Amino acid sequence: MDAISVIRTKRDRGELTPEQIDWVIDAYTRGEVADEQMSALAMAILLNGMNRTEIARWTAAMIASGERMNFDSLSRPTTDKHSTGGVGDKITLPLAPLVAACGAAVPQLSGRGLGHTGGTLDKLESIPGWRAHLSNAEMLGVLDTTGAVICAAGDGLAPADKKLYALRDVTGTVEAIPLIASSIMSKKIAEGTGALVLDVKVGSGAFMKTIEDARELASTMVALGTDSGVRTVALLTDMATPLGLTAGNALEVRESVEVLAGGGPKDVIGLTLALAREMLDAAGLGDADPEKALADGSAMDVWRRMISAQGGDPDATLPVAREQHVVTAPSTGVLTRLDAYDIGVAAWRLGAGRARKEDPVQAGAGIELHAKPGDTVTAGQPLLTLHTDTPEKFDYALKALPSSYDIAPAGTDFTATPVVRERIA
Ligand code: URA
Repeated sequence: MDAISVIRTKRDRGELTPEQIDWVIDAYTRGEVADEQMSALAMAILLNGMNRTEIARWTAAMIASGERMNFDSLSRPTTDKHSTGGVGDKITLPLAPLVAACGAAVPQLSGRGLGHTGGTLDKLESIPGWRAHLSNAEMLGVLDTTGAVICAAGDGLAPADKKLYALRDVTGTVEAIPLIASSIMSKKIAEGTGALVLDVKVGSGAFMKTIEDARELASTMVALGTDSGVRTVALLTDMATPLGLTAGNALEVRESVEVLAGGGPKDVIGLTLALAREMLDAAGLGDADPEKALADGSAMDVWRRMISAQGGDPDATLPVAREQHVVTAPSTGVLTRLDAYDIGVAAWRLGAGRARKEDPVQAGAGIELHAKPGDTVTAGQPLLTLHTDTPEKFDYALKALPSSYDIAPAGTDFTATPVVRERIA
């Protein structure tokens, strides 16, 4: 077996054999296939695709590159959620403790933000003392005692994906449905969850810009999960507009705590409850009532225990950026569009995100939204507040925003896109 013949097969639109796939993933993980060869293969896959048989084998090979976790010792059923990434998507923070409060165990292995999308671990690290990196034994311990854990995937889990994802990120090969599906599902299947709900984002702020692409990604992942014995469901959810009223690390933690305290923006509450119901159903706990667990404080109790168990202080004051800049509405009328991608890029430029994996993020940086599509705004009222510790970043961030919103004349009819657009099971 050699890398060049594997690359040529896919370059010439052929089907990779199981042997070719097993070999190339294993040889790449061991360093025998070079980065430049794997990036040529990733580009050939991006351009020419893979069929479902190839994707299933590719996913299995990535799982086999590392360890598989096992939660059989837990007394509760396990259920997990994965979002394909968006702007203001803080849902994991209230969702994991909420589902745990309803009787499930939630092993939530999460990632960091890259580019314009935020990452759960970066958000939680704005809580003083909180640790993302746990050993497998620590992870199991937190899960067993609190019902939920949100942490970084260990180095042993799907190492082929870790290497390949970093390579795709710098070779323009992230946006390939077979590669995204196998990347996400290899980690989730190796993690060992019994049930999985996929939140597949669609819109300007998502990897999938069209509903057709989102459907294709969702059905590919649902098939991969189901074929591996994981009860898997996907919701296609809107990411044309940021979720909630904040994008940025500490800002989003604050908003998540508001939701756990019984308040918070309607779209965040609605999506949290919709995903919670799916996770509980998939775990065989369909009789549980997540709305009650949010209202009676039991989800907040799990949140506090989960944060403390990972070294965080749930009562600590969250970091606030040193400088603010307010963008005002240029006219009076109905806000009809607020672009998730532009808001995500501006938040990233303010310091909430990183350009390279090793860059630090600013905990307090980000954007607060003072209106959402459908709201009436008055000329001169605050529309956005930009937050950063480094005011020299304001100009660069503002350059992302001039065409990020539309205001129509007062009285214009407006129908909001529902947050949950479709369900694929
Ligand atoms: N998230 C992942 O884990 N992998 C991808 O390829 C894209 C998003």
